[in-house]
Amino acid sequence: MRGIQETLPRLPVPTIEQTLQTYLRAVRPLLSDAEYSHTLELVQRFKQSPGPRLQLMLEGRAANTVNWDYTDKEGQLRFAAKVVAAVLDYKAMIDGQTLTVDMMGGQRLCMSQHSQMLSGCRIPGVELDNHVLHPTTGPNPPRHITVLHNNQVFSLDVYGEDSRPLDTVQLYQQLETIVEMSPKPVPSIGILTTRDRASWARNYSTIISDQANRSAMEDIQRSICVLCVDGEGQPPAGSDHARSLGLAQMLHGGGSSWNSANRFFDKILQFIIGVKGVCGLNLEHTPADGPPIAAIAQHVLAFCEKHQAPGLRASGAMTAPRKLLTELSGDILRNIAESKVEADRLVNDVDMQVWVYDRYGRDFPKSVQLSPDGYVQVVLQLAYFRLYDEPCATYESGSLRRFQQGRTDTIRSCSVDSHNFTRAMEDRSVSREVKVELFKKAVVAHRKYTDQVISGNGIDRHLLGWKLAAAEAGLGVPELHSDVGYSKFFYFKLSTSQVPVLHDMVLGFGAVVPDGYGVCYSPHASWIAFSVSSYLSCPQTDSKRLASTMKQCLDDIQTLLGGPHAKV
Ligand code: COA
Repeated sequence: MRGIQETLPRLPVPTIEQTLQTYLRAVRPLLSDAEYSHTLELVQRFKQSPGPRLQLMLEGRAANTVNWDYTDKEGQLRFAAKVVAAVLDYKAMIDGQTLTVDMMGGQRLCMSQHSQMLSGCRIPGVELDNHVLHPTTGPNPPRHITVLHNNQVFSLDVYGEDSRPLDTVQLYQQLETIVEMSPKPVPSIGILTTRDRASWARNYSTIISDQANRSAMEDIQRSICVLCVDGEGQPPAGSDHARSLGLAQMLHGGGSSWNSANRFFDKILQFIIGVKGVCGLNLEHTPADGPPIAAIAQHVLAFCEKHQAPGLRASGAMTAPRKLLTELSGDILRNIAESKVEADRLVNDVDMQVWVYDRYGRDFPKSVQLSPDGYVQVVLQLAYFRLYDEPCATYESGSLRRFQQGRTDTIRSCSVDSHNFTRAMEDRSVSREVKVELFKKAVVAHRKYTDQVISGNGIDRHLLGWKLAAAEAGLGVPELHSDVGYSKFFYFKLSTSQVPVLHDMVLGFGAVVPDGYGVCYSPHASWIAFSVSSYLSCPQTDSKRLASTMKQCLDDIQTLLGGPHAKV
């Protein structure tokens, strides 16, 4: 019995689309026309929400049960193969310029960031880093990815002789070979990429003084992306903690004893496949921002949901995977050992909290005619003020992608209006009516400032432009830029970003000052996913405390506005 049991295939989680289509067909004969059209409408709504969230929950649940997900190495590699196939599918759309043009507020956005995410790399320099991109349109375009397993680095050609991408069965076979070729963790150069840039640059120049290692480095830099097939991650202390640890594994790998050496942090995109269903990606931020990254991540998830069959097989013999960087000098090995200590210090300092606010989502602010983004930002101002009794300079990224090659400018979420509100809200002598009025005023002001920024009239990049122009003209730093006010203005104790996503995924980043927080959020119709990070070495910050204060503030504001969950 046991033998037979183990040979049975695992139960797949069907896609949302598949189940809903089947449901509609099956229910049709049982319903009148009017009943059917009502059901159809509900099905469409479910597809938007909460369908995707529930689907993700099932997939998450399946990760810990016998059926509905991978729990072993074979499952991990089969999933990794699908992720690679999904990335190649997306790459074909980028290369063929067939991606649907991104829109914001009814306006078309610049698409150049999409073509800069793949086949690029940051290169360390002692004074200044560099950045390379190997576009498909160039001569000899890259056709391989870099795979890391047990800290060992492989070059894997992912196309067949007919230039068709390998199908998921072929990719699985290649990944299986890589796993066989790297049975145990070894000291590897990946950990060197966690160091400060000048140290890494010095190590890098030692490494590339050897010809074989130089071409290995070029191979990594040219590759389409990195695939990290991880080992076990740090065990979570409870289910809430599991999501925070999962995001931390994507951010830094969890330390040298876990997966931090199984990375190459200079590479623009690293797809990380952990054990037991933990997966995600790590971005080197130079060429692209959150939304295009969220788009590729969503494509990967949708592709994995939809494509159960292997795809079309590439023809001809597959090129065997090549192990890179096998000969490292004693000096480099010593630096690898040192880097582990430093990487662990950094990793152990990160205080990451992932949480979901599920009492309401962006539909509630909309129902009271307020911008959801402005609402969340003003609530965050309140939470910070409640904890520290003072406001702080706050960065929120605002997209400049309405413009050619546009990236971001800063939405200044801390404003006179937000400060007026937070002070009033914490003052028992102020009436509810006044608090409501001040809250609304602050949210409206935030939305107005957002419009100013995204239409190219932000001030942060302009101020920086003046500073750089002065340096170029040999004028030194202008007085305006040396003022104490200027340094306070740019000391962002709150660095924040909204990245909208359809799936139940979570994004995050580190705080940008030692005594600050990094807050990322994705509003959904009826819930909001948050991540909050800070540094444990700072006695003044505490991610869990900020998260719980934000939860309380989100409750309090809804009560203030008389929303459906209001506590009367
Ligand atoms: N009443 C009712 N609805 C309102 C409203 C109001 N007063 N104000 C806004 N809304 C609606 C909007 O029409 C929009 O509707 P939709 O969901 O149908 O599109 C929705 O609420 C959300 O709008 P809002 O919350 O105001 O924000 P936004 O979606 O315009 O996003 C930013 C604001 C700043 C996040 C966005 O402009 C941006 O720049 N995004 C990119 C950020 C980025 O690059 N992040 C990554 C950096 S690495």
